[in-house]
Amino acid sequence: MKIKDPNVLITGAAGFIGSQLALKFLQNGNNVMGIDNLNDYYSVELKKTRLSNILEKSKNYSGKWNFKKVSLENYSDLKIIFSKFVPDIVVNLAAQAGVRYSIENPFSYIQSNIVGFTNLLECCRKYEVSNLVYASSSSVYGGNKNLPYNEKQGVNHPVSLYAATKKSNELIAHSYSHLYKIPAIGLRYFTVYGPWGRPDMAPMIFAKSILESKKISIFNYGKMQRDFTYIEDIVEGTFRCCFKPAKPSTKFDHLSPNPAVSFAPHMLFNIGNSKPIELMYFIELLEKSLGARAIKDFQPLQPGDVLSTAADTKSLENWIQFTPKTSIESGVDKFIKWFKFYYKY
Ligand SMILES: NC(=O)c1ccc[n+]([C@@H]2O[C@H](COP(=O)([O-])OP(=O)(O)OC[C@H]3O[C@@H](n4cnc5c(N)ncnc54)[C@H](O)[C@@H]3O)[C@@H](O)[C@H]2O)c1
Repeated sequence: MKIKDPNVLITGAAGFIGSQLALKFLQNGNNVMGIDNLNDYYSVELKKTRLSNILEKSKNYSGKWNFKKVSLENYSDLKIIFSKFVPDIVVNLAAQAGVRYSIENPFSYIQSNIVGFTNLLECCRKYEVSNLVYASSSSVYGGNKNLPYNEKQGVNHPVSLYAATKKSNELIAHSYSHLYKIPAIGLRYFTVYGPWGRPDMAPMIFAKSILESKKISIFNYGKMQRDFTYIEDIVEGTFRCCFKPAKPSTKFDHLSPNPAVSFAPHMLFNIGNSKPIELMYFIELLEKSLGARAIKDFQPLQPGDVLSTAADTKSLENWIQFTPKTSIESGVDKFIKWFKFYYKY
């Protein structure tokens, strides 16, 4: 197993999390191949600027950076990447993200998240990668109400197609992990925010509207909680998992299977701040950092949305000795500094 001085393949490298993780590996001196199809689900310009930022910063780092525009759905292109670059670690962050858009465009979720992910697993199998880390989501907890969510809970009640594809990823990865002994870790990310964030997510939508004195839609009349997790913490947790491949659990009981563990080298972890924040408090922090008031438009709950998320992260803490460090107050402040600079407000 080659985890020392690895070649790292990151899919979705022009995305929010992928671009920041790429920088972390390059800074660490690793050779990184980033792939992304640069689709127009949100601003392609932002994706390209993230890539330029990586290219610029990588000049000062010892790791070597490469990028190819490739779709996960294109199996032959993917095989070429694997055969030439021969990755030791694969991090799958490419996906059709977003809960609400899965109601509008279900097929893009099946294509990217199911067909694309299976192509990637086939390549991992064929080229015998040492470690696969892939993005799942807190949305797999769906209709569960027992907070904080932990990995022992069953996640069989998704409330959006997006969540269903992420849960499917966990199942498909488990089968590959079992059959071909591919160590694989699925990370259930909890609402990630921060510099270089996504324009389709609430922090960015709210910040823009507040500064432009436009109404912000607040769903479920503001009675929502999210376990907002700062990008640097997400990157650190993901990075550490890349250097600690999953192992089969000796505690697995075939007569009473626990969803949190497996006889295969496959593990699932929540990665979140573990401090759920009231949506209204989050908006207050945005207002404070922006120095402007929000015009609030209270709306009912949207289809596919969940009321609250909160992560129990003890299991991840035990595995990689890491807990998120960024408070919501300092995270929002850093996010707004970047936001004002990037969008020239
Ligand atoms: N940001 C969050 O709060 C959050 C929460 C839970 C889970 N996740 C998951 O984490 C991962 C990364 O999220 P993100 O916020 O960086 O999203 P993102 O949309 O910014 O990044 C995903 C990138 O993947 C690319 N992509 C999409 N489909 C592709 C395909 N078929 N082939 C190649 N490239 C493709 C996109 O162009 C994009 O640049 C995703 O899997 C997402 O579902 C994110």
